[in-house]
Amino acid sequence: MTIAKHFQLKDGVLHAENVSLAQLAHDFDTPLFVYSRQALHDAWESYHVAAQGRDVLVCYGMKANSNLAILNEFARLGTGFDIVSGGELARVLAAKGDANKIVFSGVGKQAWEIEAALEAGIKCFNVESEAELQRIAEIALNKGVKAPVSLRVNPDVDAKTHPYISTGLKGNKFGVDINEAPAIYARAQQMPSIDIVGVDCHIGSQITEISPYLDALDKLIALIKQLQAQGIELSHLDIGGGLGIRYTDETPATPTELLSAVFQALDAARLGHLQLILEPGRSLVGNAGVLLTQVEYLKSNQEKNFAIVDAAMNDLIRPTLYDAWHDIEPVTPRSEDVPSHQYDVVGPICESGDWLAKDRPLRLEQGDLLAIMSAGAYAFTMASQYNTRPRAAEVIVDDQSVHLVRPREDIQKIFESERLLD
Ligand code: LLP
Repeated sequence: MTIAKHFQLKDGVLHAENVSLAQLAHDFDTPLFVYSRQALHDAWESYHVAAQGRDVLVCYGMKANSNLAILNEFARLGTGFDIVSGGELARVLAAKGDANKIVFSGVGKQAWEIEAALEAGIKCFNVESEAELQRIAEIALNKGVKAPVSLRVNPDVDAKTHPYISTGLKGNKFGVDINEAPAIYARAQQMPSIDIVGVDCHIGSQITEISPYLDALDKLIALIKQLQAQGIELSHLDIGGGLGIRYTDETPATPTELLSAVFQALDAARLGHLQLILEPGRSLVGNAGVLLTQVEYLKSNQEKNFAIVDAAMNDLIRPTLYDAWHDIEPVTPRSEDVPSHQYDVVGPICESGDWLAKDRPLRLEQGDLLAIMSAGAYAFTMASQYNTRPRAAEVIVDDQSVHLVRPREDIQKIFESERLLD
């Protein structure tokens, strides 16, 4: 049994729901991202159940996977969106997402992005510096509107995750120092084009324990009390995203475990009336997708066995960038007649860093199909065209049906806008 419930062996072949991955590889070629619609629903449902009927807005951290079909599916389920760019705003609107459920995070918001967000009528800017607050205030003033804002505060807690995806420590570029927040709120209160609506933090990603959230929450609660004393009443509290998923043997906390603890702390502080905003990305999509790839060649030297596959670091950069682990499952597992070897699963790109998995025991023959598991989050969205490789196609499986939600890129299109010198 694989770790992902919606990708299981049936009659000796790995399936996405009720569609064979071998059939998908035949029909759409590889590398191919395959997502399960039911897995998306189940992940959403786990947050919905955890909300216990309270005022919770899930703003999907769409940088994890921003295919329009996925955005539209979540929008239909009622999510809002956490965006970090004008491009992501355009995607949400194209996917019929609700503008007034959008929160806009990010340390470097440009003027055009702020304008576009004000025009769309987003729910809140998560402001990451005083300079940004000034810029938003000026733009809103010129437009004759009020900009809804939260300050993203940096609570200086250790999310106990990989340093590249930890964001809530003092040394990180994100947010404002929580100790400086009361003074900045006080100045914001004097700005006629600013409407203070909340407070925000996001401490990191692939967090498996609840304690870092609760450490941050304690500090946020103290800040909210301080603001109340200053006469500033907030309507929401945004605790960001970051809940981890199981890639191999992790046992991440569940949304219910997290939210029960958060509600308890808020109730104890008499802040249960605040709307709670969450920004989960990975935990909504990570285990809803696999990257399907084919073994092009097997090759050995004195030290190593390599399985050279047709997916590469341009399709999935997580292993080489974060030393991340993704399970590798053969689509049609071989019998013991085929010897098991330790393989490095590598791509065709001309970099030694182009690897997807190392030292995995696998029974392989040339032409075999492999599923790289847990590839629903931060895979396609971080893909590039390095080595002029077209980005992979994406399909969504729904029981026995298959929807091509992004065709494979066309090689000509990769460079069609480039121009020769005169
Ligand atoms: N909110 C903000 C402000 C964020 O910066 C992020 C992720 C999220 C929400 C969603 O976090 P999640 O629930 O997905 O952990 N590329 C890395 C992860 C980078 C996360 C960046 N920020 C990876 O592949 O592990």
